[in-house]
Amino acid sequence: MKRKYFFKRYSIFFCLLFLLFQVSCSEKTTEQQKIDNTISEIKIGFTVYRRDDTFIAMIVSNMEEAVKEGGQKNNIKITMNTMDAKGSQTVQNDHIDKLIEQGCDVLCVNLVDRTVAATVIDKAKAADIPVVFFNREPVKEDLERWNKVYYVGADASESGKLEGQIVVEQYQKNSNMDKNGDGKLQYVVLEGEQGHQDALLRTEYAVKTITDAGIQMDKLAGDTANWLRSQAETKMNQWLQIYGDEIELILCNNDDMALGAIDAYENTDKELPAIVGIDGIAPAIEAMEQGKLLGTVKNDAQMQSELIFELSYRLAMKEDISKNMNLVRGKYIFTKYTILKSSNDVVKE
Ligand code: GAL
Ligand code: CA
Repeated sequence: MKRKYFFKRYSIFFCLLFLLFQVSCSEKTTEQQKIDNTISEIKIGFTVYRRDDTFIAMIVSNMEEAVKEGGQKNNIKITMNTMDAKGSQTVQNDHIDKLIEQGCDVLCVNLVDRTVAATVIDKAKAADIPVVFFNREPVKEDLERWNKVYYVGADASESGKLEGQIVVEQYQKNSNMDKNGDGKLQYVVLEGEQGHQDALLRTEYAVKTITDAGIQMDKLAGDTANWLRSQAETKMNQWLQIYGDEIELILCNNDDMALGAIDAYENTDKELPAIVGIDGIAPAIEAMEQGKLLGTVKNDAQMQSELIFELSYRLAMKEDISKNMNLVRGKYIFTKYTILKSSNDVVKE
């Protein structure tokens, strides 16, 4: 009798608990439904450090595509206002004020100066507009200032390792790289902007990967060419005057600078040394196919843009990001780098 009574009592209790759970779940979905229904338009504020940077231009055009597709797929009006800071943080700060005034739902920021993220975060926080930084990574302390701040990019050290790996593989296949036969690789480095995570870490890890493989390195020169093809050509011309045929390897923090180095050689009768880049832009792939560039590492602009868009969309729709997106330490999204090889190289293997 007693057992029966208990069973009855508990089954009622569990039924009630189950009902309560169901109600709370359906309440949640209707709550999200309500938000979704009230949002008929999304405004994305987008600001870049320089729109004429080759890689950033790819991000912008892929992002425009993602916005168009996202609007059609979700049947919602999505607009993106893109501002070009042209290398000035002061201009970018003004742009950010404007985008906030215009009532954007989310701010996507490619900082000019990655050390001043705090100012941008404070402005956005005051207006309660979430921020997605991309490509130029703010320091951890800044990202921790507010819980509606994120970063989409790629792990700079990984690209350096892969760039170094291209050199190691080639050296092991073909020891002609050491042209003067002194057992060391005489090299120069064309660096990106000073203070940029991709400049510092790419150089460090490329060199480390090569020396860790037991190849001795001898640095002739290194300097910044600010990611730019023209500056790299000028720098390379100077180094060619000083070091000439001594140069056996040119490590470049990106493809545009590798192309600038090739331009410099093409104005001389000198043979091209081994040159490596990063980004995987179309002209670099072409140079690789022509045997002018040893290799490059793909920086996935398409995937980065898709992720910046998806994150921005969900933030604007007031979704729970922690549940819907695969975030690293609650804030970061990183795409993978991959080595791109010349099709000739693949055929040879
Ligand atoms: C890097 C990219 C460079 C340049 C830079 C700008 O990730 O490899 O080519 O675009 O970002 O911040
Ligand atoms: Ca040598």
